[in-house]
Amino acid sequence: MESQGITEKFSEANVEALVVVVFKNEKPSAGLLKDLDKLTGGHFASVIKSEEFKGEPGDTSLFRFSPGEKVKAGRILLVGAGDKADYKLSDVCIASGTATRYLRKCNVKSFAFLPRCDADAAGVAQNAIQGVVTSQFELDKYKTKDKTDKAVTKFVVYVEEAKPADLKRGLTRGQMIGDSMNFTRDLANEPPNILTPIEMANRAQKMAKETGLKCEILDPAKMAKLGMGSLLSVAKGSEQPARLIVLRYTPAKSTAKKGELLALVGKGITFDTGGISIKPAEGMDAMKYDMSGGATVIGTMRAIALLKPTVPVIGIVAAVENMPDGKASRPSDVVTASNGKTIEILNTDAEGRLVLADAVAYAENQGATRIVDMATLTGAVIIALGDQNTGIMGNDQGLIDEIIEIGKETGEGFWQLPLSKEYSKQIKSDIADIKNIGPKGKAGTIMGAVFIQEFIDKAKWAHLDIAGTAWFDTVRPHQAKGPTGVALRSLLTLVDRSQ
Ligand code: BES
Ligand code: MN
Ligand code: ZN
Repeated sequence: MESQGITEKFSEANVEALVVVVFKNEKPSAGLLKDLDKLTGGHFASVIKSEEFKGEPGDTSLFRFSPGEKVKAGRILLVGAGDKADYKLSDVCIASGTATRYLRKCNVKSFAFLPRCDADAAGVAQNAIQGVVTSQFELDKYKTKDKTDKAVTKFVVYVEEAKPADLKRGLTRGQMIGDSMNFTRDLANEPPNILTPIEMANRAQKMAKETGLKCEILDPAKMAKLGMGSLLSVAKGSEQPARLIVLRYTPAKSTAKKGELLALVGKGITFDTGGISIKPAEGMDAMKYDMSGGATVIGTMRAIALLKPTVPVIGIVAAVENMPDGKASRPSDVVTASNGKTIEILNTDAEGRLVLADAVAYAENQGATRIVDMATLTGAVIIALGDQNTGIMGNDQGLIDEIIEIGKETGEGFWQLPLSKEYSKQIKSDIADIKNIGPKGKAGTIMGAVFIQEFIDKAKWAHLDIAGTAWFDTVRPHQAKGPTGVALRSLLTLVDRSQ
């Protein structure tokens, strides 16, 4: 062995596989990669030469060899990470996740990982384990056969010149964040007969008890007292009563400016049939994920409770089912929201904004000075941005810029759409203050946002339309298809930065 001690430690790890990140067009001609090439008897150089492995993201190449005294593992897995110049912390998570899914299939339960990332050691360790945890989430909860029973259970990460304490802190954080993402994804995946608004509230309450958060659940009577006629109008068509879930995190010692409170607000439509403005049968099943924003709020609050930042955060979820029924809202109904504004409901399928209206107003009444809401609000955002970017809009450019900036770090794309008085005019109603839809086929995502804006008073506010990013239709090398837990990591970073 030449060069770095890290290679030796890595090789001697008591695991079944060594995993090393390799960049695009990289050759094992020097240093660490050369050492590893020697270990594999030149296999490494040969797969690169033959272009069997190119180092693109998602590329993998596995070698087996006889374990020796110095190299305990019997396998080396190369994982591609694309251009070295673009390699960032969030790519560490993708690489470790890709390795995990690959090795799990081979029934390998333990591996040592060399992420080769220059960023701070705690961050590298955090992202590395997060990838291991989130990549193992599967949609098989309700399968009685063919469950994925293989799992990677031991993971060692090597970062050059890292202090053990930094690695330990990163690993602990990464595990908590990864678990919270999977918690969110499990909620988002639940069928609507099981995850009713009451059940969603129960799950939040159970989580709060386990993690030490305060949890308050408002039932319809309480909401009626508060004048939440907009939210309750959506619930009217359902047998399932609505719930407003309120989770509070208060730090032992706060470093927040006096009076500052961040609120995370989520759309929790446990199923969206469209109501009387009913949706077509095809694809309606997808609408079980219409509570993804709410799931993200509950999952993010879970992570906050475990990570214990020094700023207070309140999480609010409007959990409601949108059904057609004799008691359901009709297109042309007029309802009054808790801030006194009257709404003409012209389409009962634009229900997310109706429940968020009362939820964001409640957040501000609870003292929120910054509000971030998350919602699978519009089909239009899927047409505009697809599954790679969450639509972001709001009334405060500073907050929006901060979230967009954070997204570059966490690997979550946010793309801003404009709001303006001109757009707001388009939801003026002929007979009430506002109507719940804009002109047909025009700026659907913005119309949702300007509607919610009507219920924000003084708070700084950002709205995330996650309809395109909360669910992924195809499996990826590092992630199962299905719920993504989008925005959780970026929101946590936002909280971290407010400390
Ligand atoms: N939950 C849907 C948004 C949605 C639609 C997400 C399709 C994913 C796929 C939302 O409640 C909705 O129905 N929005 C309507 C609004 C319209 C009636 C103004 C939409 O986008 O069609
Ligand atoms: Mn709808
Ligand atoms: Zn909806």
